[in-house]
Amino acid sequence: MAEQKATNVTWHDHTVSSEERARLNGHKGAVLWFTGLSGCGKSTVANAVDRLLHDRGVHTYVLDGDNVRMGLNKNLGFSPEDRTENIRRIGEVGKLFADSGTIVTTAFISPYRADRDAVRALFADNQFIEIYVNASLETCERRDPKGLYKKARAGEIKGFTGIDAPYEAPESGELELDSDSNGIEELANQVITYLEASGFLSV
Ligand code: ADX
Repeated sequence: MAEQKATNVTWHDHTVSSEERARLNGHKGAVLWFTGLSGCGKSTVANAVDRLLHDRGVHTYVLDGDNVRMGLNKNLGFSPEDRTENIRRIGEVGKLFADSGTIVTTAFISPYRADRDAVRALFADNQFIEIYVNASLETCERRDPKGLYKKARAGEIKGFTGIDAPYEAPESGELELDSDSNGIEELANQVITYLEASGFLSV
């Protein structure tokens, strides 16, 4: 839990309510929280979902691991503490986007269950949708799109998720995608079907 350092600060409620924002947009705000090993397809599926939603007129945005680590979180590495802070900040940013009425997708390994649960606790019921992109380590290592597994196996990267750092898979997330045996389009459509069925794409 991050310490509240500032004192003498007061919360201000918004004048425009989230219901009013949803009415204007034609849909609710939410976060689609993708989690999974490096190379499991999180970013690719997140971007494919983003494209499908955008083309339907939904207000969306993608927060992507490597990009956010080059900006907002450039002062964080991959120690357990830094990963926790990485996820905490993304959670807070995701909440701002969702409050603004956006359907925001996030694509971070987010390997610790407690960190994901802490983000979930920021959101109203149903507004946090945890999506486990499940690809086996073998699959991720075979794909190795950035050549990082090879480096980790060679000992050039220490503390690499799945090799010598843990990944705690969701136990009761909203959705699990089988990325070993399905293509991107199929997985993206599964997410859209879930959103339709749970009423996120209407007011
Ligand atoms: S998280 O663990 O804090 O959620 P995040 O998703 O932001 O990780 O960043 C993961 C990306 O950073 C990987 O896809 C990979 O490109 C890169 N990376 C560099 N070092 C590591 C490492 N030790 N473990 C995992 N990913 C790493």
